[in-house]
Amino acid sequence: MKENSTIPPTVIVIVGITGDLARRKLLPAIAGIAEEKELPDDFRLVGISRRKITPQEVLDDTPGLTTNDRAFLLKHLTMYQMDLDKLEDYVSLKGYLEQQDSEHKTASQHLFYLSIPPQFSEPIVTNLGLSGIAAVPSTKLLLEKPFGTDLASAEALIARTRMYFGEEQIYRIDHYLAKEMSQNIVTFRSQNPLFAHTWSAQFIDKIEIIASEQIGIEGRGTFYEQTGALRDFIQSHLLQLAALILMQPPQDNSSWQTSRLAALRALIVPPDADVPQIARRGQYEGYGVEAENPGSTVETFAAVTLFSDDPLWQNVPISLITGKALDQKRTEIRVFYKADAQSKTSSVTTAPTPKDDNIIGQQPNVITFHLQPNEGIDIQIWVKQPGFGRDVQLLPLAFQYSSHYQKLPEAYERVLVEAMHADHTLFSSSDEVLASWQLLAPIQHYWEMHNDDLIHYQQGTSIENILEV
Ligand code: BG6
Repeated sequence: MKENSTIPPTVIVIVGITGDLARRKLLPAIAGIAEEKELPDDFRLVGISRRKITPQEVLDDTPGLTTNDRAFLLKHLTMYQMDLDKLEDYVSLKGYLEQQDSEHKTASQHLFYLSIPPQFSEPIVTNLGLSGIAAVPSTKLLLEKPFGTDLASAEALIARTRMYFGEEQIYRIDHYLAKEMSQNIVTFRSQNPLFAHTWSAQFIDKIEIIASEQIGIEGRGTFYEQTGALRDFIQSHLLQLAALILMQPPQDNSSWQTSRLAALRALIVPPDADVPQIARRGQYEGYGVEAENPGSTVETFAAVTLFSDDPLWQNVPISLITGKALDQKRTEIRVFYKADAQSKTSSVTTAPTPKDDNIIGQQPNVITFHLQPNEGIDIQIWVKQPGFGRDVQLLPLAFQYSSHYQKLPEAYERVLVEAMHADHTLFSSSDEVLASWQLLAPIQHYWEMHNDDLIHYQQGTSIENILEV
């Protein structure tokens, strides 16, 4: 079958190919894209590692690949060993990539995927710049979150990256934006008049964005000690999902970043004095030993409530909640409709409430976007129970992807394909990154100065239990 000929010849250079992300996500994603025939005819993969290792050894250590996947990757992967701290090694790498291109009689775009701990990003970016690699306009830089650790470090990283790369060369990955259900949120809200007309504070009471994980830190103690739940999830994934819920639907494909940015900028930076009320944090029991830092105050659970000053969303609390070592893996967004949608503007007439107000008025309709597992959307609606009585019951009206579609693309497959196509829709702009750090700055500051509010929770507990404390 024909490969994707709309993508130019491409080389993906994975810096840190022996790391966890590359083995668990990137290599399987590349094999998946190959299967979908979404790779260009002329495609190569270069793995960068500090130690000497063969392509076969890399793949032997990569889980979840079929025999076909392995054969494909083995055919396209070459390894390049270098010291990431040495500028001369980048100069040699540049020569190696040029030589590959001349052997293939082509001029490829080179996508540098930095699959390394975030503290190494800055020196690598600098060396890519000084070696002249970044100066080639078709070179692209794919960066993994977290982009910095706070507003000041994000500003510094962005400034450093801009010294060598144009904004159009940079792809900041937030794989939650690339999840199929995330991409459907704006479509659902804007293409269905029923919801498009009621998507505002006039009808919506509150919004909850939840990412609960069963796994703990899984041996990533060093990374997590510098990160914590606020930076790992809220600054990136959950704020981006909030933007998809709150933003104005974009006019065209090129304005997604600006629409998300406007929604993020409309969120109100919490005043310092409000932080204890709007932000909670917790740590699962046993974390300190696992992270080899008994007494650590790093949070593995965080819950933050924000408000927007967009007139459409006035006084609607938006709660962002995440935690590790909880009772279930569940990522969902719940939109609670007002039980009694009192019109704020007199020109709109609200539907009459049924006389029997112990039916409606107690529990509202709730729309839930299920990002994982069981991707889909459901809406809690009141129905009359069958029978001779008039009893009513809340039941879901549900759309499930699995009932209509066989397979959903993996988020990392989508990210790589979009970057090859030079489409920035699913990537965070530098302004989006800065806006989200700015929102969290007072919380970070308060948590640095105090630690008496850290809740210790049992592994396997629920979000509701933690928040009850
Ligand atoms: C990553 C976080 O961005 O997302 C991890 O750094 C987290 O801590 C992971 O486990 C969860 O991703 P997903 O797609 O499995 O929900």
